[in-house]
Amino acid sequence: MKRKKAHTSESKLALRGGTPVLKQPYPPVYTVGKREIVEAIKVLKEGPLSDFLGVAGEYFLGGKRVRSLEHAFTKKFKVKHAVSFNSATTALHGAIVTLGIGPGDEVILPPYTMSASAMAVLMNGAVPVFADIDEMTFCIDVESARTRITKHTKAIMAVNLFGQAADFEPLLALAREHNIKIIEDNAQAPAAKWRGRYTGTIGDIGVFSFNFHKTMQSGEGGVLVTNNDGYALRAQLCRNHGESVVDGMSAYDGGPVFGSNYRMTELTAAIAEVQLSRLDFLNAKNQALVRYLSKQLSAIPGLTLPYVASGNKHVYFAYVIKVDEKKLGISRDRLVEAMRAEGFPMSRGYQKPLYLYKLFQEQQAFNNTHFPFKSEGYDGAPDYSKGICPVAERLYEKELTMTQICQHPRTKKHIDLFVQALKKVLAHKNELQ
Ligand SMILES: Cc1ncc(COP(=O)(O)O)c(C=O)c1O
Repeated sequence: MKRKKAHTSESKLALRGGTPVLKQPYPPVYTVGKREIVEAIKVLKEGPLSDFLGVAGEYFLGGKRVRSLEHAFTKKFKVKHAVSFNSATTALHGAIVTLGIGPGDEVILPPYTMSASAMAVLMNGAVPVFADIDEMTFCIDVESARTRITKHTKAIMAVNLFGQAADFEPLLALAREHNIKIIEDNAQAPAAKWRGRYTGTIGDIGVFSFNFHKTMQSGEGGVLVTNNDGYALRAQLCRNHGESVVDGMSAYDGGPVFGSNYRMTELTAAIAEVQLSRLDFLNAKNQALVRYLSKQLSAIPGLTLPYVASGNKHVYFAYVIKVDEKKLGISRDRLVEAMRAEGFPMSRGYQKPLYLYKLFQEQQAFNNTHFPFKSEGYDGAPDYSKGICPVAERLYEKELTMTQICQHPRTKKHIDLFVQALKKVLAHKNELQ
């Protein structure tokens, strides 16, 4: 009698008072190991936690750990220059400064990305213009980007979302055709590949992130990469109070450059360098878990599982599922709600398309002004109205859900429980209408 009762509680949806499938929380996405700890302690014992000074000379490029990380980055990603920053957000701003993009200019980017992609543009007084995304890769739709080009366009920011490359062949062609630059926001796709080339190194400038929920982590941190010598120097100046450095740099003729303190600490660099050496291992672990999960979900009608475009190597920052409500027999939101109750946090749509945020709706980024959306010398008219990017809006509102269940150090055991919970929820879908 007792056993029967327990069974009933197990099979009842947690949302309706049953026992959740997940009894113990699964481990956080935390990838720092013994080697990172050893290196961090060495830095603490060695001395300087940062070796940057905002003046020309030997301290302009930072300390030995920072330089060592940058060197390792150039080797790993086969790129001429790597410039570390204290986050991908500041590195993205560095990219905008480096390319001389500012008031009166526009940058086209997808709205389905972390807000930092667009804020980096605004931070330098330029205007973000949003193009829709591709239905399958979730990266920028190049044809939509084409329709957004104006005389003000200076760059397209391609975001390699969820761990996969954007469609670079038409994107590079479009950029060439209009003489505009490509910035890659590669925060979510370290060591992903497009036709054998590392993402981040395909455009004019690429940016990586090491924040605490990325595959490669150092708490905070980022790196900007480029093959252009002039860009590398401008990025270094932007990172380290360039305006006070160029005075003492007799050989520099690159014009004024906005600088700030975007410098990485020695401690962060030491941790990031170990993480970089483990990046392929971490990506391989995540890819294996993705394969394991996809195999188990492939028979469920109504779920579109992660898609890999031909020629791409996907590194799965997250496991993304598209829900067809009619075929599945339950809405995305009810599914997410029921899965959360079973103990598995899932996102309801990832990111609200950025133009729907108040800042864009009210076109107010700097106190009570409408700069840079309306300003002297800028006669553009950016459109942030609902409906401009229908694919991104539909994915956000109705179809997309994602989980980080496939991130190391999570294991097949956690995935088995995730699948068990999903099957349980689907078996009870009639109760969730
Ligand atoms: C696509 C994208 N761009 C930029 C960032 C900003 O990265 P960071 O936290 O290193 O500033 C993130 C972080 O989540 C991101 O996902």
